[in-house]
Amino acid sequence: MRQNLLRAESSLLRYPIREVVEIGKRFEKLANFNMIWENIGDPVAAGEVIPDWMKEILRKEVANTAGYGYTDSRGDIEARRYVLENFSSQKVCTINDILFFNGLGEAINKILNNLPKEARVLVPSPTYPSHATAEAMHAGCHFISYSLDPENNWEPDVEEIENHVRYNEQIVAILVINPNNPTGSVYQRETLEKIVAIAKKYDCFLIFDEIYHHMTFPGVKTTLLYEIIGDVPGISMKGISKDIPWPGSRCGWIEVYNAEKDKAFYDYIRIILLAKMLEVCSTALPQKILPAIYEHEKYPAMLAARIEKYKQRADEAEAFFKEVSHVRMNKPQGVFYLVVELQDLPHARLESMNKDIRLELDRLEQKTLAADFQFAYELMGAEGVCVVPLTGFGSQLTGFRMTLLQEDDAVFSETLQRIGRAIHDYYD
Ligand SMILES: Cc1ncc(COP(=O)(O)O)c(C=O)c1O
Repeated sequence: MRQNLLRAESSLLRYPIREVVEIGKRFEKLANFNMIWENIGDPVAAGEVIPDWMKEILRKEVANTAGYGYTDSRGDIEARRYVLENFSSQKVCTINDILFFNGLGEAINKILNNLPKEARVLVPSPTYPSHATAEAMHAGCHFISYSLDPENNWEPDVEEIENHVRYNEQIVAILVINPNNPTGSVYQRETLEKIVAIAKKYDCFLIFDEIYHHMTFPGVKTTLLYEIIGDVPGISMKGISKDIPWPGSRCGWIEVYNAEKDKAFYDYIRIILLAKMLEVCSTALPQKILPAIYEHEKYPAMLAARIEKYKQRADEAEAFFKEVSHVRMNKPQGVFYLVVELQDLPHARLESMNKDIRLELDRLEQKTLAADFQFAYELMGAEGVCVVPLTGFGSQLTGFRMTLLQEDDAVFSETLQRIGRAIHDYYD
């Protein structure tokens, strides 16, 4: 090519949740087996059955001409009205402050890419990688993060947040993911209020990724941003990928709060809307049927049954990992993931399924590989289970994230057994 085609920051572009799959697929071919995929938060891939009533709503909409046209660039007006009335608050938000995207993934990129390079968003560690990667790519250097504390049920370290914001003028926003991916924790209201107070004190805005707002275990209540934001500018991110088993719909939205309270924030949100206009709009069909799905008489029971299943999986995993040495685990309070920390993790090897996988592992495992990536690769090669290394979530801690999604009880128990065996042999 006449010119270099890569931006300097291209090396920061990482998405380990899917990158591990390429390696896992190669292993499957090399030893002719079926991997247990524990890497991705997709209930459909984990075997969840889509109820007939949901398919019926979709079938009806396919026969309706309206869903075949463009929508307003902000999104379908009825979908936005539904979101405003059911998931948001008219005290801080209007129908024009809701913007639909093709999945929250797109919203994350639009929000970060449209900030000037020097305006930084403080992200959690560990974090959902799309946020951290988009932040790093927009800034052209490593993301800036605050810690979630495993000693304190993975709550954000508020003191660290304040220190970052106080001493780094470039920070314009604080990102909070609550309920949290990857840790499954649901934050205390008091912690969140302190974060809002920091944003107010230092004239920053807030980004709360609340895509798991419906996914808390029985008895656990989540505090939503609109309940505590007061007059601070902020963005709540939500979507249908998690509380409706339809992540392939690619349908998420942002709710902008207190847009008019700050001129710079208002202008920035206007740019995000213009960027969306450039693409015309997001896919219409999921927006058109979103209210019908959430309002269906069978929706609450479906959601409750799913959450109950994830809770049972969390109970089983907790009982299991309690007995495994070198492991620290906080029991999730919601969501459908589990983080297992592997303490003082060495670089080691497991007996792989065959010689070809061993050769492939030796090729992958250069000295620079993080210890938990090595563990994750060895686990795939020895036990046929694919998890995501914890350092892949922008954490200094080593371990892995698995899901609680597996539909089949026996397969879930078998997965735990295989992982437990691998941990034991790896430290041996
Ligand atoms: C915290 C969090 N935010 C955003 C997303 C992206 O969701 P979407 O499917 O709407 O792109 C995910 C998906 O796993 C997520 O876990």
